[in-house]
Amino acid sequence: MTTAVCPGSFDPITNGHLDIVTRASRHFDEVIVLVTGNPAKQSGLFTIDERVELIREVTADNPRVRVDNWGGLLVDYTSAHGVTALVKGLRTALDYEYELPMAQMNRRLTGVDTYFLLTDEKYGYISSSLTKEVAKYGGDITGLVPEHVRKAMLKKFR
Ligand code: PNS
Repeated sequence: MTTAVCPGSFDPITNGHLDIVTRASRHFDEVIVLVTGNPAKQSGLFTIDERVELIREVTADNPRVRVDNWGGLLVDYTSAHGVTALVKGLRTALDYEYELPMAQMNRRLTGVDTYFLLTDEKYGYISSSLTKEVAKYGGDITGLVPEHVRKAMLKKFR
């Protein structure tokens, strides 16, 4: 059985993330969406447990997807679970610059490979941080995040 991990902060999951997870699930038997800490990011809008719950809700219809969280090095998780593939989405060259050293570091640490899927052009400009900023100031984020997530965000900002 082939398994891939899709790691990220997912604060919250966007339609761009969801598209990558769904497409990854066509290439791997199992995709683990892994909510991991990013030391470069401030404390989030959603707690880790809330993020996991939101992802579970919006991936519930896909039997190949499961959701987990991890507070340590990503490669320690993949090694512990026998996973040899990571999947990330790439929107722009900026993403490539950001992802390349992490992919190479992870490969150096344990040999885990990172597969990159190009983001669908519909979602190329969407990020969790931009959707939070728009929602915070009352802008319309319909279609940028799953509806369930949109409602949870509105509740947070109310
Ligand atoms: O969605 P993000 O914040 O861009 O994802 C980055 C993330 C969380 C995947 C990255 O920060 C990460 O892998 N964090 C876990 C800690 C770790 O393994 N750091 C070393 C990366 S080479």
